[in-house]
Amino acid sequence: MRKTAPPKTYRVESFGCQMNVYDGERMEEMLSEQGISAAAAGEDADLVVLNTCHIREKASEKVYSRIGRLTKGKDNPPLIAVAGCVAQAEGEEIMARSDAVSMVVGPQAYHRLPAMLERAVDGQRSTDTDMPADAKFAALPRRRKSAPSAFLTIQEGCDKFCTYCVVPYTRGAEISRPYSALVDEAKKLVEVGAKEITLLGQNVSAWAGEDDKGRAIGMAGLIRALAEVPELARLRYMTSHPADMDDALIEAHGDIAKLMPFLHLPVQAGNDRVLRAMNRSHTAESYLKLLDRFRAARPDLALSGDFIVGFPGETDAEFEDTLKMVDAVGYAQAYSFKYSPRPGTPAATMDGQVAPEVMDERLQRLQASLSRDQLAFNAASVGKTCQVLVDRQGKYLGQLLGKSPWLQSVHFTGDASIGDLVNVELVEALGSSLGGRLV
Ligand code: SAH
Ligand code: SF4
Ligand code: F3S
Repeated sequence: MRKTAPPKTYRVESFGCQMNVYDGERMEEMLSEQGISAAAAGEDADLVVLNTCHIREKASEKVYSRIGRLTKGKDNPPLIAVAGCVAQAEGEEIMARSDAVSMVVGPQAYHRLPAMLERAVDGQRSTDTDMPADAKFAALPRRRKSAPSAFLTIQEGCDKFCTYCVVPYTRGAEISRPYSALVDEAKKLVEVGAKEITLLGQNVSAWAGEDDKGRAIGMAGLIRALAEVPELARLRYMTSHPADMDDALIEAHGDIAKLMPFLHLPVQAGNDRVLRAMNRSHTAESYLKLLDRFRAARPDLALSGDFIVGFPGETDAEFEDTLKMVDAVGYAQAYSFKYSPRPGTPAATMDGQVAPEVMDERLQRLQASLSRDQLAFNAASVGKTCQVLVDRQGKYLGQLLGKSPWLQSVHFTGDASIGDLVNVELVEALGSSLGGRLV
């Protein structure tokens, strides 16, 4: 590679889950500390970080086509770093296949990006996909600014090894960040503008630590401590695995007012044979029983989930059980995906891979049920007055957008500013959002 001038501007493009969004923000902060500034919207950047996701198909193809568009026909192409889960899974191939890439950095190594950048400017390419994550967080800069709703990664990695999933390979083993570091970061986020914090982890409820008195605590204890931060109005967390939900967390939903009435708890499928083949440790019944306990603690809890259709061997009758699960739960919202074979995972080589047309048809039916329930949930909210955290401007003059306690998008017009918590009467349900009136 040729030597280049040190970059003056950067752009970080994040794909995938909220953990990647969090990582992307941290990389932006690091680059800003190096004196590099964010490129304005629509402007070319001197350094582009592609913060990639590997969860479903064609993720790496997307990376190569993005690299092509960034470099083709350019006299002065940007320096390119590939970060995130594709970097972790396919770092060597990326380096071999694309000369335009000068840095490959895995999700647990990005605190070393500034050093890699120095080498890149000097004309040397480097790959860093070391794990685990424990050194990373301590090496990141202090938080400087925050949107009204902020993410805070408290846990990383996954030891669950669902047979379809790449995350245990791209993010490594479960680790929990220490309590004191999390309380510090939360306070700092609130100081610089956050009203709401969403605690993040691939298995967020598996978080474990010791409080300032050395007592062993879990997620519920951490939530209780963070709820004490005076200016913080709201707490959320995602994503949880049914196996990690304990009584203390259920109780916390009943008695911590700042913990919002929303739970994202993926089930993946409604049939026990499929769940076993997926290596999920719950059954359809144990999942439903768990939800009953949450709803007993917090009757207005809104539920969200993830679903996979067309897991290898899934029959029509087994898929019907997924639809029955949806009917039984009544989700406020949910994500649904076609099964995608991921290289290196056990399910990728299982017998009975399902034909694409069959997956398409199942996905359509599932999504029709989920949209029906989302609309019903939103329609049932009409007439309620609730607090909305305003997080951005809408498309129309004077229109503002925000989130209800149940994570619904609410738009309204009126005299309020981004970051305000305002009382809004919900007046109209529209598919995935609601129209409101400022009270
Ligand atoms: N840790 C979380 C989320 C992991 S990824 C959890 O356990 O729920 C987010 C979602 O992507 C998963 O819940 C699953 O529904 C989906 N997913 C993961 N691997 C997939 C694959 N190979 N094909 C299709 N969907 C997948
Ligand atoms: Fe993937 Fe399963 Fe771990 Fe979730 S719990 S990240 S789906 S292996
Ligand atoms: Fe994607 Fe990695 Fe998140 S694969 S979903 S970016 S953990």
